[in-house]
Amino acid sequence: MIAITKSMKEFMKDHPRQKYIFFGGKGGVGKTVMAGAAAIWSAGQGRRTLLASTNPVHSLSNLLGQDVFGKPTPVEGVPNCHAFEIDTRDTIERSKREIREKINWFLKFADITTKAEDFIESATMNPAFEESAMFENMMDLMFKDEYEFYVFDTAPTANARRLLGMSKVYSMWVEKMVKSREEAKSLREMLSFTKKKEDKDPLLDYLLSLRERMAHAKELLTDEALTAFYFVTLPESLPIAVITRFINWFHEFGIPVGGVIVNGVIQKEQAGTDAAEFVLNRIKMQEEHLRTIEKIFGDGVRAVVPLFETEVKGTHMLHRMVERLFVNNGGTV
Ligand SMILES: Nc1ncnc2c1ncn2[C@@H]1O[C@H](COP(=O)(O)OP(=O)(O)O)[C@@H](O)[C@H]1O
Ligand SMILES: [Mg+2]
Repeated sequence: MIAITKSMKEFMKDHPRQKYIFFGGKGGVGKTVMAGAAAIWSAGQGRRTLLASTNPVHSLSNLLGQDVFGKPTPVEGVPNCHAFEIDTRDTIERSKREIREKINWFLKFADITTKAEDFIESATMNPAFEESAMFENMMDLMFKDEYEFYVFDTAPTANARRLLGMSKVYSMWVEKMVKSREEAKSLREMLSFTKKKEDKDPLLDYLLSLRERMAHAKELLTDEALTAFYFVTLPESLPIAVITRFINWFHEFGIPVGGVIVNGVIQKEQAGTDAAEFVLNRIKMQEEHLRTIEKIFGDGVRAVVPLFETEVKGTHMLHRMVERLFVNNGGTV
């Protein structure tokens, strides 16, 4: 139905240095499954691979049928592959603690007697804080550089987009803060009778290091050789609309788009002409949406993956998914 110009496999071959890959798309389209399959594939190539998720609903543990929560855990029966469901609550608590320390220090430094709690509340009680904690988490993993290949099973679309937009806002904010901190610091030194230089400024140090980390993350995330975001869709109108919007945003942000994976396609031959009416209708509906997909994404389609007879669970089924995701050649599917 869809002519694939460049398959997932060929695209990977063209990007041998690819190291950070992400899966985006509407909820329920198969992002976690594809992330799992990609990790298994990469590990099978002999690369030390980490499959990481910030999804709080234990989707990876569920997919793999083993507890991978809280720390990178070897995936049973798959050499070179670790899976890691990041403990979001723990990250958020840790970030809150760090922020609290910095705010307390700053209030003392600036001789402000307001209760620190008010500041801390307003700094941490918003959804952006949670996401920035997640972003820092991801950056930490990337910078530690303990793996050769990273597969991130990202949260649903809107969050991932904010995550990226945030990196821009974040660095602007840090820039501004650093500047006013530097001014405040030199003013303080000028007014100081002792002529003693302020030699420690944890807040400024933190902001400088944050700025550096953000810049580094942006460098990695916008490097076409290293990074690719793949978008998963079903042959249905809403998931198609979601990734269309998403891909446009990504182009705006200069984030490399790896391509589109079409999932859940019913195999016509398997259904036969005497299948129940709703099955035949569904096949017809899918065919129409597949045409739309071809029109919108054209040679950006990397794979067309069939609907399996059951949900995809366990490494055995993931291996089957790998075969369908990384088919030998493009050609017509
Ligand atoms: N090709 C497929 N065939 C059968 N079931 C699938 C297929 N792809 C995904 N699923 C199932 O669909 C559900 C949603 O997939 P999941 O990867 O969790 O989606 P997402 O991460 O995008 O929310 C899961 O139960 C999964 O096993
Ligand atoms: Mg998921």
